Amino acid sequence: MRNLLSLQLKFEIFLWFDHQKLCIAADPFRMEKTFDEKGADSEGKKYKGLQELWQTEDKPEWYSKAVDATVDGMLGGFAHITTEDVKGSKMFLSEFISGKNGKKMNTTRALDCGAGIGRVTKNLLLPLFDRVDLLEQNEAFVEKAREMLKDEKMGNFFAKGMQDFDFTENRYDLIWIQWVAGHLSDKDFVEFFRRCQKALLPDGIIVLKENTTRKDGFIVDKTDSSITRSDSHLRQLFTETGLKVLQVKVQPNFPKELFPVRMYALQ
Ligand SMILES: C[S@@+](CC[C@H](N)C(=O)[O-])C[C@H]1O[C@@H](n2cnc3c(N)ncnc32)[C@H](O)[C@@H]1O
Repeated sequence: MRNLLSLQLKFEIFLWFDHQKLCIAADPFRMEKTFDEKGADSEGKKYKGLQELWQTEDKPEWYSKAVDATVDGMLGGFAHITTEDVKGSKMFLSEFISGKNGKKMNTTRALDCGAGIGRVTKNLLLPLFDRVDLLEQNEAFVEKAREMLKDEKMGNFFAKGMQDFDFTENRYDLIWIQWVAGHLSDKDFVEFFRRCQKALLPDGIIVLKENTTRKDGFIVDKTDSSITRSDSHLRQLFTETGLKVLQVKVQPNFPKELFPVRMYALQ
């Protein structure tokens, strides 16, 4: 993520951002629309489409890169944005907890995905939920989280990759996924969100909080194997999961040099 932040402007000029292509599939009776996007990576390579990207990148090594076990490591050198980040997340969630959006979300159990050392669990989820589970693939981060989160509300610490995680069905009121979905390939993203959907309790929601590109087109950071997707790319993936977007907000008051960070509530 650190590299993505600094390289963002450089790569955005590489991209020839023509708008998302909507191709009508060959079979005239199905008239299916196929989403595609162009992109670029941190080594200057341009991709003509998503198929070209995932043909080269969808392999085990994509999931093996690591960052430091500190809040700065989690936030790519931007630890100081934590206060605004948590404030924005609380405001976003409060509409669901208060029932302002129609249905009221319960606050019995939440899951923090790609939790790192537990920054979101500690500052956002533990104050709001009766029990919080944490899912993180880096065992060293899970150990650090165990040390930092000595709270009786803490539930399970799952040391596993999201792409391999099996959920208990009907388990969570909230599944929070922040700054980690860029580490999932499109295929694993869709499969993971489908499994999340089954793990929701009635009126439960999934929240994705993630960097998005300013225009259409994706940007791949080869140093930490992550992809920053556009809003349209994310919405296409949500469509494939069958999830409905209930609410979207852009995180306010973040430094201008960062990618726009969007919060999506899904059900
Ligand atoms: C940028 S950090 C964000 C951490 C935390 N969500 C936060 O906002 O403070 C990304 C985290 O996702 C974890 N991660 C990356 N790929 C993952 C995967 N496939 N499954 C689970 N965790 C993953 C990394 O180890 C790292 O801890």
